[in-house]
Amino acid sequence: MREELERLKTDALNNISEADSLQALEQIRVQTLGKKGALTQLLRGLGKVSAEERPALGVLANEIKTAFNASLAERRDILKASALNSKLADEALDISLPGRQPNEGGVHPITRALSEINAVFGRMGFEVATGPEIETDWFNFEALNIPPDHPAREMHDTFYLPTEPDEPKQVLRTHTSPVQIRVMENRQPPLRVIAPGKVFRCDSDITHTPMFHQVEGFAVDEDIHFGHLKGLLETFLIRFFERDLPVRFRPSFFPFTEPSAEVDMGCLFCNSKGCRICKGNGWLEVLGCGMIHPNVLTNVGIDKSRYSGYAFGMGVERLAMLKYGINDLRTFFENDTRFLSKYAVSGI
Ligand code: FA5
Ligand code: MG
Repeated sequence: MREELERLKTDALNNISEADSLQALEQIRVQTLGKKGALTQLLRGLGKVSAEERPALGVLANEIKTAFNASLAERRDILKASALNSKLADEALDISLPGRQPNEGGVHPITRALSEINAVFGRMGFEVATGPEIETDWFNFEALNIPPDHPAREMHDTFYLPTEPDEPKQVLRTHTSPVQIRVMENRQPPLRVIAPGKVFRCDSDITHTPMFHQVEGFAVDEDIHFGHLKGLLETFLIRFFERDLPVRFRPSFFPFTEPSAEVDMGCLFCNSKGCRICKGNGWLEVLGCGMIHPNVLTNVGIDKSRYSGYAFGMGVERLAMLKYGINDLRTFFENDTRFLSKYAVSGI
């Protein structure tokens, strides 16, 4: 019996020191001290041992039990600590790595230019009107004194929509001037209105895109003359660019204004020396303007003997190119995130 107890002690303590998991340890405990465990069985056999031997064997059995429990608790602590350590290692975060910045959106430079233009005219007393991007031939051309066979239609390489032969022709508007007609048909002077929006033409090079933005503007009242138009546009340009830049009014022609002019700004990309952006002439055209043609006033039912008006239509991309120093107009619409992150601003 003594040998059996000694062997059991050695085996159990060996097993404990070799156990590599808490489950294995628990199995050893059950096999030794459980109801049917080896030590439990041996202790049950104590009754059959002679009375002389029994006390010494009882003491030994208790010593084994105590040693076994102590060894079990020690091994359990070690295994628990190593389980915790390996869990911590698995879930480790390297907080010394640089943080990753989220990609933030920003305001597109065209949206920014549009809101800056609106703000300048808003402070000068202009209200905002809008019109549809699909227009009829009447609003886009005829009411603006551009009859079907007029050569001025060639200035706008137009996208026509498919229509039946007896239907009125529909076009993607080539300029924002039709909004003048829509407003003047429904209202009487005094009027001071701007009309921002998208326009469409068959055009593509570094200063032209097939879709671009214009801001139309016009005023109709008694005694409006060209001096008002010139003063307004000069003031607008100084406020928009926040500095005094070279500007020139160049005589031009539009069927819906008389007299007509185009406004050019000194090319900021070459200091007016001439480059590929200004096509070598030192100036970049930013808008067309003039005094509203009397035929247009008659077309919309405004008394041309009492009222006169001016109108202008500016290219938003051209203004934005000059203000923000963007040297190819097409990049506005290529959605290259390198361009956007350079020129987009966060919030306006
Ligand atoms: C017009 O569109 C006239 N409706 C402007 C006007 C309004 C004149 C009211 C008189 C009274 P024009 O075709 O020149 O004019 O275009 C006006 C401006 O739009 C140009 O000066 C230019 O800045 C811009 N622009 C014209 N075509 C393009 C294009 N393809 N891409 C980008 N900007 C353009
Ligand atoms: Mg022009």
